[in-house]
Amino acid sequence: MNSPAMQGLNLNTPAYVKNGKLIAWVADMAALCKPDAIYWCDGSQDEYDRMCQQLVDAGTFKKLNPAKRPGSYLALSDPSDVARVEDRTYICSARKEDAGPTNNWMAPVDMRATLQPLFDGCMKGRTMYVVPFSMGPLGSHIAHIGVELTDSAYVVVNQKLMTRMGKAVHDVLGTDGEFVPCMHTVGAPLAEGQKDTTAWPCNPTVKYIVHYPETREIWSYGSGYGGNALLGKKCLALRIASNMGRDQGWLAEHMLILGVTNPQGKKYHVAAAFPSACGKTNFSMLVPPEAGFAGWKVTTIGDDIAWIKPHADGKMYAINPEAGYFGVAPGTNMHTNPNCMLSLNRDVIFTNVALTDDGDVWWEGMEKDTGSLPPHLIDWQGKDWTPEIAKQTGAKAAHPNSRFTVAATNNPALDPQWDDADGVAIDAFIFGGRRSTTVPLVTEARTWMEGVYMAATMGSETTAAAFGAQGVVRRDPFAMLPFCGYNMSDYFQHWLDMEHKLESMGHTLPKIFCVNWFRKDEAGKFVWPGYGENMRVLKWMIDRIEGQAQGEETMFGLAPTYGELNWTGLDFSSEQFKTVTQIDKAAWVEELKLHATHFEQLAYHLPKELLDTKAELEKRLATA
Ligand code: GTP
Ligand code: SPV
Ligand code: MN
Repeated sequence: MNSPAMQGLNLNTPAYVKNGKLIAWVADMAALCKPDAIYWCDGSQDEYDRMCQQLVDAGTFKKLNPAKRPGSYLALSDPSDVARVEDRTYICSARKEDAGPTNNWMAPVDMRATLQPLFDGCMKGRTMYVVPFSMGPLGSHIAHIGVELTDSAYVVVNQKLMTRMGKAVHDVLGTDGEFVPCMHTVGAPLAEGQKDTTAWPCNPTVKYIVHYPETREIWSYGSGYGGNALLGKKCLALRIASNMGRDQGWLAEHMLILGVTNPQGKKYHVAAAFPSACGKTNFSMLVPPEAGFAGWKVTTIGDDIAWIKPHADGKMYAINPEAGYFGVAPGTNMHTNPNCMLSLNRDVIFTNVALTDDGDVWWEGMEKDTGSLPPHLIDWQGKDWTPEIAKQTGAKAAHPNSRFTVAATNNPALDPQWDDADGVAIDAFIFGGRRSTTVPLVTEARTWMEGVYMAATMGSETTAAAFGAQGVVRRDPFAMLPFCGYNMSDYFQHWLDMEHKLESMGHTLPKIFCVNWFRKDEAGKFVWPGYGENMRVLKWMIDRIEGQAQGEETMFGLAPTYGELNWTGLDFSSEQFKTVTQIDKAAWVEELKLHATHFEQLAYHLPKELLDTKAELEKRLATA
């Protein structure tokens, strides 16, 4: 970096930084973390390029072949640092009850006492980067500003793509603007003269991802990966923002936002919550099937997070607080998600995918585009990979949670309103988990209450997006289990309260749908073709909004009849349709037992209406 080495506690504060609280905080944190230097990021392209080069020099980045993937880099992380660490993530509210049973909790004083010695000197031998960013359009009334202090240059360049980052944030902050302080360290200080022995410094044993909801602070120690380290994302835009939303009457959700325009030019907006690695990015970039859907268009507003506010007109308006995508690479190809593949042509940071011999990237699923596996790769752990080795050992070339970071502006399907400070009016909410059995392809809640029930009891098979066991069904209410920054039952209440709030404004509430793209047959194969074909389900939802489809009553809401879906161009029999829509009574008896256990765990402040709704469902099930 061309910033001069820090002398004593010289902060090197640029003249354009005028916020006294920020300067004092940076000084305090520098005194605590004891970096060798402080660097204030301006967010310029020049700075980005320099820092990427610095990461190349340090061995963290490999520059990809510019003829194949211009402006792009590959980072391989430490094998101990490949996903969010849910068991190391804490909500440190003053009262344990306010974190609720789904969050790890420690009293703030105890957590501060734990973190103090860890952060003391944690940046020795490194530079502390000051990263100002806006979640939401710069200067918008809806946006919130964060400042991340980090000793990871990888984090800085990712934040440049993922957020509105840089100098302009200081103009918005002015002398006394508010910001969320976000402390981050990889937790690997260097002794005097010591050099990194690894290209991905992190703390392999000690990790803490800590939130203080009352004081709106974030402290992250030991990891450099994704949501653990890019603190604007899950930590600020979901865990802290969900607290702001509860206090201020809005919603911070783990939802994609898409626009869908019909051939007549009428546009609808949909927000959908699916758990991590369950298809949000894919759905938000959906390409409708050519046959049967001429003139239909889907455009992306966001792929992961939505901030949704009720407006005086009685509608709910959603914005995407992010400015880029940190998406799952494996499984992405020109068949499953062409818009995503086109977004990745240039100016991308790839993490933990495989490297081809000609300096490009590869991941499982790309063979569907080329028709064959590459003969040789360097895998995500830097080892040789061949189809033969993979066959023998099952070794994946790309880590299952390998990801790309790319600016939203790379997306050819980007919605013209993606950056609109007022957001888009939501016509429908969709909730969906990954369930091989039990949950049907699509149902519509008959009431807001029933929709909240379905979302609150949503289950999903766990994915590689979080460290730990994979493929076990866990309850993931609203896809927010790892991201709700307060007591889950209070969050349910907050959702229920929205109904009365919006109804009193006299507008029709958005419809609520539940989907499951992931039902499998006896051979363990997905029955529903998914991806672009999900348009057929989305179209039915719009028909429902327009009153053009009736649906039929089931135990769990309205479902489409076979004839109500447009099947043009897809060979999907009514028998197959039955396989993905059938409601197996015995399975649901078991499922409702799991709902009961789930509600027992959430008993504190659990809205009584949820138990009443459950009782109604049980009655319906018994007489079905
Ligand atoms: P996070 O970024 O972790 O929050 O996840 P996400 O919800 O954005 O996940 P993403 O869209 O990246 O989906 C990841 C996985 O879901 C990949 O393995 C996809 O192949 C798979 N997937 C997405 N859509 C579908 C679908 O319609 N059907 C099936 N079977 N798989 C899908
Ligand atoms: C998720 O896990 O839901 C993600 C990826 O979107 S991360 O940002 O790492 O949390
Ligand atoms: Mn996510």
